[in-house]
This record gives sequence, C-alpha cells and structure tokens, in this order.
Amino acid sequence: MADNVGNQEAKDYGIGVPVEKKAFFLKGLDHADWGIKDRMGRIFDSKSSHTVMLAFDHGYIMGPTSGLERIDLSIVPLIEHADCIMCTRGVLRSCIPPQVNKPISLRYSAGTTVLSELNDECILNIEEAIRLNVSAMAIMVSVGGIYEGKTIENLVRTADMGAKYGIPTLGVTAVGKELARDSRYLSMASRVCAENGATFVKTYYCEEGFEKVTAACPVPIVIAGGKKLPELEALTVAWKAIQEGAAGVDMGRNVFQADAPIAMLKAVRGVVHDGLKPQEGLELYNTLKNE
Ligand code: 5RP
Repeated sequence: MADNVGNQEAKDYGIGVPVEKKAFFLKGLDHADWGIKDRMGRIFDSKSSHTVMLAFDHGYIMGPTSGLERIDLSIVPLIEHADCIMCTRGVLRSCIPPQVNKPISLRYSAGTTVLSELNDECILNIEEAIRLNVSAMAIMVSVGGIYEGKTIENLVRTADMGAKYGIPTLGVTAVGKELARDSRYLSMASRVCAENGATFVKTYYCEEGFEKVTAACPVPIVIAGGKKLPELEALTVAWKAIQEGAAGVDMGRNVFQADAPIAMLKAVRGVVHDGLKPQEGLELYNTLKNE
C-alpha cells in the first residue's frame, strides 16, 4: 500500500490555465478512439503528416514476384527506411525479424490468385491481428466488381472488429480489368471505403482530377505505386499525389524493383516528407545509388 504519511500535499492544479485542446493531425480522425490514433500516429509522421509505407504483400496473389523471391535479402534491409510495412502474416512470421520494430499494415483479406477470378476473399481473425500487434488491417475492396458485396462485407466486419480493439482498417481499392482507373471511379471506390468504416484508404493515383478523389474522401488516402516505372516517373507520381492531397504512399514494385532500392526509398521519402521536387528526388536517388 502506498505510504500516506509525510506525502507532499498536491498543490499544482494550474488553476486558470485552460487545458489545451489539440485536433488530431490526420483528417477525419478527431473522433477516433485512442488506440486507433496511437496506431495511426505510428504509421504517419506527425511532423509531415505523411507516410511512406513499403508494400510487399504481392505474393499472396502473385507468388514469387520479381524482387520478392528472397524477402530476407531484398526487403529486410529496406525496412528501417520505411515508416510502415505492409505484408501477409506468412511473410511476417517467416521472414521479418520482430526487432525491426515497425508498424505493420497486415494484409487481412485473402483469397483467389491471379490464376483465377480475383476478389473472392475472406478475412483473417481479429485475434491474429492482435497477436501480431499490427497497426492496421488492410482489406481489399472491389467496388463495381463481381465480388463487390462480399468485399464490402469484409471491410465492414474488419472495421467493426478494428473499432472494438482500436486497430485501424485500411480499405484497399482493387480496380478490376473492366473498370477505368479514373477520378470518377477512384472517388467512388475511396468514398465507399471511408463510408463503410475504413480508417484510411489505399487507392491509385490518376492524372486527371486526383484532387477530387482526395477532397471527397473524408479520411487519409495513400497511393499504391503500381507497376515499375522509370525512377523519375515514379517520383513524379508520388510528388503529384502529395501535392493533390494524398497523405502518403504505399509503394512496392517501384521501390524493390529499382536498381538501388534503398536509394529509391530514401528519394521517395525526400519527396513525401521533405517536399523535394521529382527532379530533386531523382538527383538524391542518383547520388545515393552511386555512393
Ligand atoms: C495489392 C496491393 C499492393 O500492396 C500494392 O499494389 C502496392 O504495391 P505496388 O506499389 O507494387 O503497386 O495493395 O492489392
């Protein structure tokens, strides 16, 4: 029992000093619970309000993708330079040392591969997310696809569980081959994710009207990188996305398939966090690559 004899009397009540009210630094999350904010605050840098996530979950639908054949050799050395890692539980357990101490966006939906009809997915158990101490659960949502209802139900169930245990849900918009990746579609898909409880949304950048996609989505958006592009183009996509309201990037192939992946990740960081222009990012990339 605490000693109650000879204790100093409480006196520093700060009478007359109002308690500071601080808005949370990410949009749409002022009313989220403490655990959600804590985890989002690990994924996003509170100084820049942005994030550079490293995605290497491709194997769950694509198998041993180029650059991901040996995660221990290609990805583990990159992790210290990312703000968050996005992967499946299988790779997390088998290849990622827990001492990397990075927030994890766990691929939380699983299902069919590129060999068959995409998008017929199920979700993991919340106990698995808790056991792995993840900072977000990433759910694929196929708006307008044949499994639209199923994947939206997956999102809703995940967001319910996430709310219960304070774990953010990342809605990942999958765009089927028959759908256009334009601002009209991406606005709708992102908004549908947010309306159904996603804490933040991952979608694609589009050249025309991306600022409408971010404006109409009430929670932060991070963009996927997509197929490998020349470095300057990939840095330009990242730069434009941030200028047009994205809160970050969740890039995979444009980082781990680059000639110098660590240099590329640092260049992306320069663009996303430090406001480097694409050409400046490229110069940083080339300098680091040649060191
Ligand atoms: C697939 C994903 C991938 O993680 C995503 O596509 C990111 O990787 P890349 O930058 O290579 O596109 O979410 O649904």
